[in-house]
Amino acid sequence: MTILQEPAFAKVNLTLDVLGRRPDGYHDLKSVMQTVSIRDDVTLTLGTGEPWRLTCNWEDIPTGPENLAWRAAETFFRNARRDPGGLTIDILKRIPVQAGLAGGSADAAAVLRALNRYCDFPFSILALAELGSLVGSDVPFCVLGGTAMVEGRGERLRKLPDLPECFFVVCKPDFSVSTPELYEKLDRTAIAKRPDHRAMESALLAGDLAKVAENLWNVFDPVVTAEHLELNYIKSICNTYGSLGQQMTGSGSAVFAMMPSFEYAAVVCNMLKDNYPQVYIARSV
Ligand code: C5P
Repeated sequence: MTILQEPAFAKVNLTLDVLGRRPDGYHDLKSVMQTVSIRDDVTLTLGTGEPWRLTCNWEDIPTGPENLAWRAAETFFRNARRDPGGLTIDILKRIPVQAGLAGGSADAAAVLRALNRYCDFPFSILALAELGSLVGSDVPFCVLGGTAMVEGRGERLRKLPDLPECFFVVCKPDFSVSTPELYEKLDRTAIAKRPDHRAMESALLAGDLAKVAENLWNVFDPVVTAEHLELNYIKSICNTYGSLGQQMTGSGSAVFAMMPSFEYAAVVCNMLKDNYPQVYIARSV
C-alpha cells in the first residue's frame, strides 16, 4: 500500500463578477481568487485491494462517489489510464462548509495534485487544472493556487502577481446560502456595481495591499447582505478594529477581512468569537 498526503487550502474571492447566463445554464464569471491558509488534510491510501472508500471527520460531508474528491480520483485514473488497485480517501476537514471557501474543490484539487506526483507527473499543472474543470468549477483554481484571474465557469486561469503577505480574518455565520437560488436572484437583479478588475490588477502589480483592499468587490455580497443583515455586523466589527477591507467570499456565507497584521487579526477574531464559533485567522498562500 502507498500513502499520500496533501494539504487542501481554501480560497477567497477578492473580486467576483457574474457576467451572464450561458446556454448550458451556468453563468460566466470573472473573479480574482486568492488561496488562504485554512486547510483540510487529504490522505490517500492506494493499493488497499478493497472497494473505494471515503471518510471525513465532518458528518454532513457525502462519503460516496458524489464527493468531489472521489470524482477527482476517478477522473484522474480514467485519464491517466491507471488503476490504483483499491483506494481510500481520508479527509480531515477544517475549512468551513457551505461558506464560499471552496472546501470541496480544494479537497478535489489536493487529490489531483497528489496522484499526479505519485504517477510521476503525467499531466502538466495546466493539464491537471483542465482535468479539474471536469470535476467542479472551482477545482482548476484550487489546482493552481496563489493569486489568479479566473474566467468562464472557472476553467480559464491567468496567474497574477502574488498578494503581498497579508493576514485574513474569516468568519462563517450560522446560515448558509443556496448557490443556484442566489444565481437566480442575481438574474432578476440589476447589478448596480461591478468590480474594477483593471484597478485590482494594478494594485496587485504594485504590491499595494491597501489598494487591493479598496478594490474588493463581490456582486453577490449586496444580494446576500440585504437578506442577512448580520453580515453587516461582522463587517462593521472588522472595519472598526482596523481591517483594510472586508466582504463576503463566493456565494457565501463566510465573510473575510484583510488585516494589516496578525495582531489586528487577533483583536478582530477575539471580538467575533463569542458570537461566531467559526472564526479563523489565515495568511495568504
Ligand atoms: O458549482 P456548483 O455545483 O456549486 O454550482 C451550483 C449551482 O450554481 C449550479 O447548478 C448552477 O445553478 C449555479 N452556477 C451557475 N454558474 C456558475 C456556477 C454555479 O449558474 N458559474
